[in-house]
Amino acid sequence: MEMFVIEGGHSLKGEVAVSGSKNCSLPILTATLLCERPSRISNVPYLADTGFLLSLMESFGVSQKRDENNDVLIDARSITSTVASYEMVRKMRASVLVLAPLLARAGEAKVSLPGGCAIGSRPVDLHLMGLKKLGADLKVQDGYIHATLKNSSFIGADIELPLPSVGATEQIIMAAVLAKGVTNLFGAAKEPEVVDFCKALISAGAKITGHGTSHVVIDGVSSLGSMVYQVAPDRIEAGTLIAAAAATASTITIKNVCVDDMASVIHHFEKAGCLFKSSPELGENSELMVIAPKRLTATNMETAAHPGFPTDMQAQFMAAMTVAQGTSVIYERIFENRMMHVPELNRLGARIELHRGVATVVGQESLLAAPVMATDLRASASLIIAALAAQGQSEVRRIYHLDRGYEALDKKLTKLGASLTRCTQT
Ligand code: UD1
Repeated sequence: MEMFVIEGGHSLKGEVAVSGSKNCSLPILTATLLCERPSRISNVPYLADTGFLLSLMESFGVSQKRDENNDVLIDARSITSTVASYEMVRKMRASVLVLAPLLARAGEAKVSLPGGCAIGSRPVDLHLMGLKKLGADLKVQDGYIHATLKNSSFIGADIELPLPSVGATEQIIMAAVLAKGVTNLFGAAKEPEVVDFCKALISAGAKITGHGTSHVVIDGVSSLGSMVYQVAPDRIEAGTLIAAAAATASTITIKNVCVDDMASVIHHFEKAGCLFKSSPELGENSELMVIAPKRLTATNMETAAHPGFPTDMQAQFMAAMTVAQGTSVIYERIFENRMMHVPELNRLGARIELHRGVATVVGQESLLAAPVMATDLRASASLIIAALAAQGQSEVRRIYHLDRGYEALDKKLTKLGASLTRCTQT
């Protein structure tokens, strides 16, 4: 197993470029299953999760090839298997998204239920409710979703989501793009990743409007052609780099940032005392300079669906708050169990009390190095940030979680002057 050895207490300096978004790439790659001609998706990050999804797609008879520019070519003209086994799905929850495209293309699918995960129970009931409304016959048996289509295709319908689930929104849109008739999806997720995903589908001929609002309208088409699309930059990676600069009193420039999508994160770090300069000021491909103060000011934060503060940035924001002046209160509103980093941050000298999903962080003047263990993807990022701020040499163990969702974050931080080495844990 690999770990990072981090010598903390140094500030960061220089420029760093953000990779393509993991959470855009996964549904976009999945949606190429709907396309009857070969697709080319560019700016796909090299990650354990994208690699894993591509192998799962290969098991359906799809061919895929990645070139040296991070372009992925996918040929889903022929689908020879419609089974996603437990062994596959348990490794990555997002694999459940293959359900709608397999049904739309082959009329049947058998996909394992994803089960629980480190950050909470994460059910898929809303995915199933949506697909049923669009004409799928679903049975859950032996841990598998056994699905068939009642007609020769999905049939458009009005669907209301009681909460704006990102995955359910994407699942329903994939079913509706090849449905007969119009689907009105109310209560849809408005996350930038959903918008990017819809733009990718539109590039293949899908008729979608209203993406980025809570009412998405999908006018079904009889087939999709070829998807040619460049994945948007990763706003969570950009936010993680902001948090690293903030916690280490650094000034860095982050390239390839979609500033429009980061308003809430930027706003909270501004409240904590960071200065931001972006050029162009708004847009999809800006350079963002972060100038952190000598010491941050404690700032309260509550996660929420977009345009609120993203739950995927909660742990990293908390890591920065551990060294702020004053006490901040952090509320996790999206996932019930997303505070596993708290005891590990406390091992690094943070003072955080946790009560029913609310963390009270009493900022410390400095943290102290310690060996710590990552429990999930964003928790790993928070521990790296805290270790960069701590005096002395820390070990961050179980970094396979980090490798699922950050492309070469260790190399990027090293380029910014961090002392961080990847080693094998003995
Ligand atoms: C996606 C992101 C994840 C992010 C999350 C919220 C990907 C691959 N992952 O996950 O990084 O943290 O959005 O922004 O894009 N829920 C139900 N029933 C359902 C589906 C969801 O109750 O059928 C609940 C979940 O338990 C959770 C909330 O809805 O409390 C939001 O989850 P959702 O938006 O679906 O997250 P994911 O799409 O799994």
